[in-house]
Amino acid sequence: MRQSVPSRVHELSAEEALIYRQLDPQKIPQHVAIIMDGNGRWAGKRALKRFLGHQQGAESVQFVVETASRIDLPWLTLYAFSLENNLRRPKAEVSFLMKLLKNYLVGNVKRMNDNNVRMAYIGRTTGLPNEIQDTMQWASEETAKNTGTTLTLALNYGSRSEIVDATRSLVQSLIDEAHTRGCSLEDLLQVDSLDSRIDEAQLSANLYTAHMPDPDLVVRTSGEQRISNFLLWQIAYAEIFVTDRLWPDFRGIHLLEAIQNFQQRERRFGGLGEGTDEHLEGRDDALETPESIAAELARG
Ligand code: FPP
Repeated sequence: MRQSVPSRVHELSAEEALIYRQLDPQKIPQHVAIIMDGNGRWAGKRALKRFLGHQQGAESVQFVVETASRIDLPWLTLYAFSLENNLRRPKAEVSFLMKLLKNYLVGNVKRMNDNNVRMAYIGRTTGLPNEIQDTMQWASEETAKNTGTTLTLALNYGSRSEIVDATRSLVQSLIDEAHTRGCSLEDLLQVDSLDSRIDEAQLSANLYTAHMPDPDLVVRTSGEQRISNFLLWQIAYAEIFVTDRLWPDFRGIHLLEAIQNFQQRERRFGGLGEGTDEHLEGRDDALETPESIAAELARG
């Protein structure tokens, strides 16, 4: 259970407070995940080198994190570095991003503590340079006692590989259990069926995000309408908000605007909307023929 923390909404800027006052505080999402995109285009528009776009993007991260913490958003997850970025970007850009991440963590841990923000990570983080892993661990330990927003950075992250890793760990835990019981995997599955041993809940429990609620809202900057291998399992019912704004221009106020848009959506989770008054009880065998539907439409 999250401890309740004193409200910090009075720390919002005047412009942010204006939007915040229009929000329903009961409907602040539990978890917002952001695909930060457009650093390169931001730099290109100014005839600057790409790395300056990333540097500016790191500034945006801190602005957004602090606004999130002021409205007491419980979970904020940022797609900071994908497996594909690691494999497909030039070595110089990858090593610049690593340096930037390290500087960001070292330079902002105090601010994280001032804002009661806890740092966490998801991804194949063991594939990152050791020096970066050490800094990541240091930052998460330094902020571990904080009880406000959990900022999770997705680093060397790919959703398909996360699902593969989860499946491997699920199967490995079954093999280990069979071993402990001194029986074969087949024997174990005679006692408990495969259906009961591998289901959605067990797979979720083996994802990197096992300890987090699924995102309610995914924000993507820079106008691209794709998910780019980000939290594919977890965003099954998330609302998606795409803005043309490039990440280095994104600020806390834009997070609040995305939440405002989110609050206007009707979430159905595969069910029917609240306004649906049609009753189908007892009519499950009463399929209309195409002719009768056409006749009904013609009657207007
Ligand atoms: C996309 O821009 C963004 C990234 C590749 C990574 C995001 C990195 C940051 C925001 C900076 C550092 C982050 C932290 C946490 C310190 P792009 O290069 O794909 O932009 P483009 O599509 O316009 O080329």
